[in-house]
Amino acid sequence: MCGIVGMVNGHPVAADLVAALGRLEYRGYDSAGVALAGPGLPVHRILGRATDLVPVLEAESPQGHAGIGHTRWATHGRAELRNAHPHRHGGVAVVHNGIIENHDVLRRQLREKGHHFASDTDSEVIPHLMSEALAQGCSPVEALLETCRVLKGAYAIAAVTAAEPDRLLVARMGSPLVVARGQGVAATASDPAALAGMAHEYAALAEGEIAELTGEGIHFHPIRIQERRRGERRQQPRPVTVERRGQGRRAEQRSWQLIADPTAARADGRIFTHHTRREIAEQPEALAATDAALRGLALAPAVVACDRFTVIACGSSLFAGAVARDAIERAAGVTVDLEVASEYRDRSAPPRGVALLISQSGETADTIAAMARFRADGLPAIGMVNVRESAIGRAAEMVWPVTAGQEIGVAATKSFTSQLLALMRFGIALGEARGTGDAAYRVALAHALDAAPGICAEAEKSEPIARILAQRIAGEGEALFIGRGWGAALAQEGALKLKELSYLRAQGYPAGELKHGPIAVIREGSPVIVCTPGDAGQAKVLANASAVAARGARVVALTDASGAEAASGTAAETITLPGDALTAPFAQAVFMQLLAYHTALALGHDVDRPRNLAKSVTVE
Ligand code: AGP
Ligand code: GLU
Repeated sequence: MCGIVGMVNGHPVAADLVAALGRLEYRGYDSAGVALAGPGLPVHRILGRATDLVPVLEAESPQGHAGIGHTRWATHGRAELRNAHPHRHGGVAVVHNGIIENHDVLRRQLREKGHHFASDTDSEVIPHLMSEALAQGCSPVEALLETCRVLKGAYAIAAVTAAEPDRLLVARMGSPLVVARGQGVAATASDPAALAGMAHEYAALAEGEIAELTGEGIHFHPIRIQERRRGERRQQPRPVTVERRGQGRRAEQRSWQLIADPTAARADGRIFTHHTRREIAEQPEALAATDAALRGLALAPAVVACDRFTVIACGSSLFAGAVARDAIERAAGVTVDLEVASEYRDRSAPPRGVALLISQSGETADTIAAMARFRADGLPAIGMVNVRESAIGRAAEMVWPVTAGQEIGVAATKSFTSQLLALMRFGIALGEARGTGDAAYRVALAHALDAAPGICAEAEKSEPIARILAQRIAGEGEALFIGRGWGAALAQEGALKLKELSYLRAQGYPAGELKHGPIAVIREGSPVIVCTPGDAGQAKVLANASAVAARGARVVALTDASGAEAASGTAAETITLPGDALTAPFAQAVFMQLLAYHTALALGHDVDRPRNLAKSVTVE
């Protein structure tokens, strides 16, 4: 995914565009660029970070009052300067987030008309198509409408023209985009947080909608794509007439929300240098907010009637499903299957029961494709999304919300623990509604979830221990995480966190499986982190841990007070975290997040923007 931004104001906008792009870098950082509307249509692009645009723009000091900006995560064409956005052609400059699926066909048609392309991107067809429409007599907004009608795929587009120095055009189909307004300013961005301090309030641009932004206001128009019926002859495109509706009905029907500043000091006065660290600290609030949003939510009859659920997700969201699986099965007496979305989308086995789609962003392409398989068979899908205004949030029959708040760090932290809480509450609600499952367990689990925010706050105090362990792991250059049951899934999440932030080789494995192969990697001093449950299951995990210790591994056990004594008999180091066996997944998740964070710092990596990654993966 890429980050796009646009702004029109009564004064030069270049500096604000770059500042907003800086806040969107979590969406991609292969290249960055801005274009300013008006005569000359200046475009400035660089390879690398948006902040590197600052000296370029200071030298040029462009005066444009309307402009667009982009920070790229390449999908079509390498991370090279010629592929950086904005793409300019014939008096139009465009930034794009998404994928134009029919770009090959469109390119061919445009080439036949004499167009030459300067990049390998799918996006570059957009300014070419717009300039064709302009040449046929369309106004800029009509040209954008005409263009959107032939594009297939997903897009959020922002465009400026040489002809209209005070107007910005935007369109959306399948990729996120908001419009925002403030005193004399209208703006757009992939994420409203980019506009903090620049605009006052924002609203989502609807799917299949175009907007014109000027200093006076925002005008909305529907794209209305007309599908040709079979056998119908292709008609010559004719210029469309844009109906002027002003800020009237359509503008006021949508819900406008205030733009919050994510980097401001927290209520407890703490200020963090990294979003990731701040988000680790925000877990108590995130869990409490998720709990509040779930309270009193009823499950649809089709869900209550079902005893077979399929969790479909990617990355940390999948691991959240795996950690919570046993809790749901026990609380509700149902079966929960786990599916990796990128694999499940292409399976031939018919979908069964109800899908549980877990996604922080709600925009993950593989999860969306997997959801389509359930929908095609008329089966219900429940979306567990953190971003309500997302593709999954809009398309799922039912949303079981995660309200962790905006997560900017690329590594999932507060969204992960909030997903855990939402999933476990789902299990409780399902068991109660069905009258199946273990009622006593439901009561105990509900108490544990009430305590979870406090446990996360306490667990954060383990930071000094996490920092010391991080130094050692940074020195060893690898780590193995093991556990059983939920601990096996949490071990995978711990390893993923360490991998993505520190770039070290880390593996999460079910402890009982080690003897079937992975134990061969153990050498003298190998760091092995054991997620132990502190309850009846602990003895088996510790037996597996003993086997690696006997082969020279340095075992570090994560546990709670009830399991500390037993663990210390096996582990070289026992880290006792707050809470009990039921809250242990929360406490251990926080510890492993801190461990990954400090390992990355020890190795000098960019924690918020780890290499090769993007916050949401909108490609297959
Ligand atoms: C988490 O730390 C990762 N960055 C990644 O695995 C992520 O969880 C995955 O891409 C799924 O994203 P989603 O929750 O937005 O669908
Ligand atoms: N497809 C465009 C490119 O590669 C945009 C990528 C995206 O939004 O992820 O430049």
